[in-house]
Amino acid sequence: MSAELISGKEIAAETRRELKEKAERLGEEGTIPGLAVILVGDDPASASYVRGKEKACREAGIYSEVDRTEDTISEKELLQKIDKLNKKDNIHGILVQLPLPDHISEEKIIEAISPEKDVDGFHPVNIGRMMIGKDSFLPCTPFGIIHMLKMKNIPIEGRHAVVVGRSNIVGKPVGQLLLNENATVTYCHSRTKDIREMTKQADIIVVAIGRAGFLDESYIKDGAVIIDVGINRTEEGKLTGDVDFESVKDKASYVTPVPGGVGPMTITMLMYNTLKAAERAAG
Ligand code: GUN
Repeated sequence: MSAELISGKEIAAETRRELKEKAERLGEEGTIPGLAVILVGDDPASASYVRGKEKACREAGIYSEVDRTEDTISEKELLQKIDKLNKKDNIHGILVQLPLPDHISEEKIIEAISPEKDVDGFHPVNIGRMMIGKDSFLPCTPFGIIHMLKMKNIPIEGRHAVVVGRSNIVGKPVGQLLLNENATVTYCHSRTKDIREMTKQADIIVVAIGRAGFLDESYIKDGAVIIDVGINRTEEGKLTGDVDFESVKDKASYVTPVPGGVGPMTITMLMYNTLKAAERAAG
């Protein structure tokens, strides 16, 4: 069997076209969706992600502003910036690019963002609402994964999903979203005794551990759906996922490539959340 590629690039492009139309309609009704991004310091990876977000906003007809600050900014000053953005009517979504310098508490910063503007879906109010299956802003990468599966008509209900990784940004919430879609969910992590034993039972595997080429064909059963969230750089600087693509491609039924898989979905769902926030504000 040869696996079908799940092209995040294509699904993202199609979804962004729909979002652009939505943004235009909102604009005609008098609400231009607005996203504010705060970037602290000059980490090249973070700076590149933020540029990607600006470009996506421009293309989708979403107003965006980026506040680039020195990494010497105090926690108090950053909290003041968030407070101002919380009160601005033309800003519907606020995103503080992570990670933050050590002297600033990410927890405090995330909690300072109004849950109504928390388009990252990281605020405990939104995470709590997600857990009880209520309407909320969903974290962008996990939301993007569910969106991809649905766009490809890959069934989730009743299937066994194994999530490898338990980060707050990807592993934990993607497991919760799969559960909300009626999958049976198993989490594996660094203390799991035998990860292979678990993943071999999975209909759907999501890998988000940041270890290049970790998941090879010995970890999967015939016909498994493989979602690769890894973004690793090889010594030659090539982007590569947590899945050994060549090894699994003849055994899996579907697999996401890296690059061009989950990556493009994250910013797309950020656009989705910003539009949702603007729609809510417009009433
Ligand atoms: N850093 C890496 N990924 C993300 C993300 O999804 N949101 C924010 N705010 N920071 C990140």
